[in-house]
Amino acid sequence: MSTVAFITGGNRGIGLETARQLGKEGVIPVIGSRDAEAGRQAVAELQAEGIPADFIVFEASSTADRDAAYAYFSDKYGRLDVLVNNAGLGLEGQPAESIGRADATSGVSEETLRQTFEANFFGVVLLTQKLLPLLKKSQAGRIVNVSSVLGSLTLHSDPEASIYPIKMFAYDTSKTALNAFTVHLAHELKDTTIKVNSAHPGWVQTRLGGSVAPLTEADGAKTSVQLATVGADGPTGQLHHLGQVLPW
Ligand SMILES: NC(=O)c1ccc[n+]([C@@H]2O[C@H](COP(=O)([O-])OP(=O)(O)OC[C@H]3O[C@@H](n4cnc5c(N)ncnc54)[C@H](OP(=O)(O)O)[C@@H]3O)[C@@H](O)[C@H]2O)c1
Repeated sequence: MSTVAFITGGNRGIGLETARQLGKEGVIPVIGSRDAEAGRQAVAELQAEGIPADFIVFEASSTADRDAAYAYFSDKYGRLDVLVNNAGLGLEGQPAESIGRADATSGVSEETLRQTFEANFFGVVLLTQKLLPLLKKSQAGRIVNVSSVLGSLTLHSDPEASIYPIKMFAYDTSKTALNAFTVHLAHELKDTTIKVNSAHPGWVQTRLGGSVAPLTEADGAKTSVQLATVGADGPTGQLHHLGQVLPW
């Protein structure tokens, strides 16, 4: 019985690469794409590499899309083994642009805050709540919340940390909230076989990460894949980057 994974925001970037790497490990990757044509193209790309991928239309803020995702996995597999909450956005530009911005926090608009939290936090929480009954039917459910080191309050408040000058208030706090979800859900599920972790992909060359980022998409997907495939003795309730535990 093959492992079935749902990767949101899987039509491009780190999400598509996560689907590819999971597919190469024998997992059936189902990608969420808010644009049907982009989803179709991504699936065609994966299928051409021999990966039995599929896609469903998924917009994080859509209740109907969350219901449809539940129906898809329930009807087709009766369970879900892996949920990679990868879809996310940043509306405050590149990290370097925030350095020294006088109103980086006080000047963030309500619209930017709400849109960012809608995709990066509320969408993740509500989708996970919806799909949890199906993850509980898996023998070893894995939930990966694709977060960021920029969600770390410990590092944001440490003047010696490399991220200290980078302050993108809406993005950073949406990932901090996401990390809190990881900790709380992992606690709720600690006596089950389900593991819940946050992944920091690294700074990756994608539309979000920009072209000057040091990591390729292939490297950026590695942490999500590691956490999606950890064994029974693996971590839960932690923030990881390439096998290292990062501080909250
Ligand atoms: N790149 C980095 O350096 C970096 C660093 C740390 C964390 N991350 C995190 O890694 C994840 C993937 O980012 P990426 O770099 O691969 O970015 P990306 O190339 O911009 O891809 C983002 C993906 O999320 C989808 N998406 C955005 N908003 C959505 C919404 N409201 N509903 C559903 N899907 C939505 C996009 O769909 P469309 O194609 O339709 O826009 C796209 O598939 C994000 O959670 C990001 O915060 C990235």
